[in-house]
Amino acid sequence: MALSTSNEKGYFCSMKPFTELLLHWYAANGRALPWRQSQDPYRIWISEIILQQTRVAQGMEYYLRFVKRFPDVRSLAEAPDDEVMKYWQGLGYYSRARHLHEAARRMNGTFPRTYAEVRALPGIGDYTAAAICSFAYGMPCAVVDGNVYRVLTRFFGIDLPIDSAKGKQKVEQLANELLCKERPADYNQAIMDFGAIQCTPRSPQCDCCPLSGGCQAFALQSVETFPVKRHKTKVTDRYFHYIYVRAGACTYIHKRTGNDIWKNLYELPMVESEGAWDMTQLLSSPTLAQWLHPGETPQVHVIEPEVRHQLSHRLIHAAFYEMILPEDTLSFSSFLRIPIEHIEEYAVPRLIHAFLEKYL
Ligand code: ADE
Repeated sequence: MALSTSNEKGYFCSMKPFTELLLHWYAANGRALPWRQSQDPYRIWISEIILQQTRVAQGMEYYLRFVKRFPDVRSLAEAPDDEVMKYWQGLGYYSRARHLHEAARRMNGTFPRTYAEVRALPGIGDYTAAAICSFAYGMPCAVVDGNVYRVLTRFFGIDLPIDSAKGKQKVEQLANELLCKERPADYNQAIMDFGAIQCTPRSPQCDCCPLSGGCQAFALQSVETFPVKRHKTKVTDRYFHYIYVRAGACTYIHKRTGNDIWKNLYELPMVESEGAWDMTQLLSSPTLAQWLHPGETPQVHVIEPEVRHQLSHRLIHAAFYEMILPEDTLSFSSFLRIPIEHIEEYAVPRLIHAFLEKYL
């Protein structure tokens, strides 16, 4: 059934009951977020990429700092790589920052205007393209993110696994049917806020939900079993041993190469092991032997035996050691030697940043 109703601007549009209830909920509960005050596609893009990494409360701070320093496409395109990384530091998934930078460089100073051009940019998938084009240009594209999967599978009782082609297709099709074509930006913001505030993954607020009357999962008393997934994410354990060298007032770091999530970030010398190691095992590792100059016997002690750092597909068990060497040491010669007081200038993974904040 479609309803005819007047929207905020006073014109009429046809809406499904779900859409109408959702927009009413949003009018009363939507959050006034800084990127929502803007129709600048550049700012919306930055906010969306940041919000793929973190929650709104933390993302806000990153967003405000980022757009203050890089207020437009040109300033981002012209910035040095290391500076962009520094502004991203702590958010994780650094490939997103590299894609942002690369995309800004391809834009020649102007943000693209069509869906196809936006979607073709590095780091922009269906979700981000729909968010930018609906929020900035008012295009009728429905966003489909984790919130949308959760809200729609619950309300419509869809028990197809959302990690199957059929499940994805069903939700995407429904999302586009439900989209309010006259107010795509409000509709998309509404469903994301509704998922983030009311229809949360755990302990959703069904008691005071204006949509619960039509919600299939609520009727089945099984809200938290939606959405259904075929496969749980497999998490692998990794064991990292970081060495904070003190050679007088200097320490050693290096820039990570290789194509992983921390590419281009700096880190302390690190030895990886297959399983948990104690200090004796670390001190007899061939990797460490390669870095130490023969004849130098460092003093080593454990600062943090185990810090656990959860990423989407892996659990990192990190140990931190302090290693004291003479000021004129010949060890770690393949690393970058820097004054300890300058370490803040280098973008490092959040795990290392937290360690440095605590111990320096
Ligand atoms: N999460 C992702 N995009 C968002 C947005 N525009 N507003 C609130 N939460 C979001």
